[in-house]
Amino acid sequence: MPSMPHSSSKDTDIIILDFGSQYSTLILRRLRSIGIAAKLLPHDTSLSTLRQAKGIILSGGPDSVYKKGAATLSVKVFDLGIPVLGICYGMQLMAQMLGGLVEKSDKREYGSSRISITHPKGIFHGLPKQFTVWMSHGDYVTKLPKGFIRSATTANSPDAAISHPAKKLFGIQFHPEVEHTQHGNDILKNFVIHICEYAPSQSISNLIDRKVQEIRNKVGNQHVICAVSGGVDSSVVAALIAKAIGDQLTCIFVNSGTLRKNEPKQALNLLKNLGLNITYIHAETQFLRALKGATFGETKRKIIGKEFIRVFEKSANAIKPKPIFLAQGTIHSDVVESARTDTGKKTHAIKSHHNVGGLPKRLNLTLLEPLRDLFKDEVRALGEALGMPESAVWRQPFPGPGLAIRVVGEVTKQKLDILREADAIVREEIENKKWQNKFFQYFAILLSEKTVGVTGDQRNYAYPIVVKAIISSDVMTYQWAPLPHKFLAHVSERITNEVHGVARVLYDITSKPPGTVEWE
Ligand code: XMP
Repeated sequence: MPSMPHSSSKDTDIIILDFGSQYSTLILRRLRSIGIAAKLLPHDTSLSTLRQAKGIILSGGPDSVYKKGAATLSVKVFDLGIPVLGICYGMQLMAQMLGGLVEKSDKREYGSSRISITHPKGIFHGLPKQFTVWMSHGDYVTKLPKGFIRSATTANSPDAAISHPAKKLFGIQFHPEVEHTQHGNDILKNFVIHICEYAPSQSISNLIDRKVQEIRNKVGNQHVICAVSGGVDSSVVAALIAKAIGDQLTCIFVNSGTLRKNEPKQALNLLKNLGLNITYIHAETQFLRALKGATFGETKRKIIGKEFIRVFEKSANAIKPKPIFLAQGTIHSDVVESARTDTGKKTHAIKSHHNVGGLPKRLNLTLLEPLRDLFKDEVRALGEALGMPESAVWRQPFPGPGLAIRVVGEVTKQKLDILREADAIVREEIENKKWQNKFFQYFAILLSEKTVGVTGDQRNYAYPIVVKAIISSDVMTYQWAPLPHKFLAHVSERITNEVHGVARVLYDITSKPPGTVEWE
């Protein structure tokens, strides 16, 4: 069970200033996992609020510190006598404001880098001399401000970490909050516990009680409909709401025509076994008609979001008493990636999740999203604590827009059918090997541009299929899975032999960043 922030005055003890990074909330989540309640506030928070803090963390951000209009803060923050840890953009800003120099790097660093610690004190206390960190930057510090020393280095960033020990100011170019950074939690712990001298507050294990209470307070005696897909997030949200309000909840399962092979049947069985009250709606024709001609991922997401809402509004009208709330399994990464942060500042939009950016402006139902502040691993912990079966909690995530964003380009029934078959082979082979718990997601993608192949003695133009398997726990970042060549060869043979309409099979060897899970 994850520890969660609580609402005592201690919440202001550690403040994270948000400069718009995709990972800002991940810092919050990492601190939460080690029992530290912190607060994420906008980068221009007043000095009077910051004075209350025991420690300040400056997040990363998409800007370059030397660009006009780049997000900034008062230079007086560094003279408050409060320890400051700048991460990526946060470090560059601190260095520049205190008289150092930040410049564009010839070699941008995205992904993993090996770091060597040159000053094994402060935030690096007790850590190995070398370890792997996750970088995502195009600028770097080229001249240190007065009083600062280099405390770590990588091949492309001579000053990968800097510090001013007397003033307790620290900067790191990499992201300790990202799961692929080794010792990331130790670095944050060193900063918060040893440098800020902040004692971790007791972790709150009764997350369920708190969520149940919040749902009851919000819903009262009104009725709720909940969009369920059989996926982890929507199943957890439905189980949680059912626990809170019982038969005031009706779940709606929409078959949009973009689901995987056998999925509607399997999902319905799972949801019924959770004791949920389900209405099934088959809307394949409606969705495929709406998607006709749409080739761009964002457009497809928005169309699907709109059609979902249309279906829900129609179903809500047929339910008595009329539901007032629409519950969704929106989780925190959906919100972050759709560029709406809880500090009210915009991060750069990565995509519109069908359940966030895809919603129409005028919605006749009020949204109920109790998982909005939680990450995937926390949602799974919640599901387990709610007594959901392991198969449901550890089911691999599947995006709301479904296979529509795994067909790159225009979506047709024919392409979906080809993809469904290829995807079923990928999943079956991984599961035959019992590797399903090793990978966060494993699936197939179909590219719309046909390429040539030879079958028998004939040239044959058909679709390429991309196979993908990734290692991650929260999917803010991931690494591609090094599947054995023999296994890949077998999967490729099966797909090209068994699925009509496929000419070749590729394997995706891009990690995130710079890649993303879905090809769209
Ligand atoms: P990306 O492609 O951004 O995906 O690396 C990160 C995770 O989010 C899933 N995903 C979605 N989930 N609605 C969802 O419920 C969506 O619109 C959506 N788009 C991507 C994706 O499968 C991965 O787990």
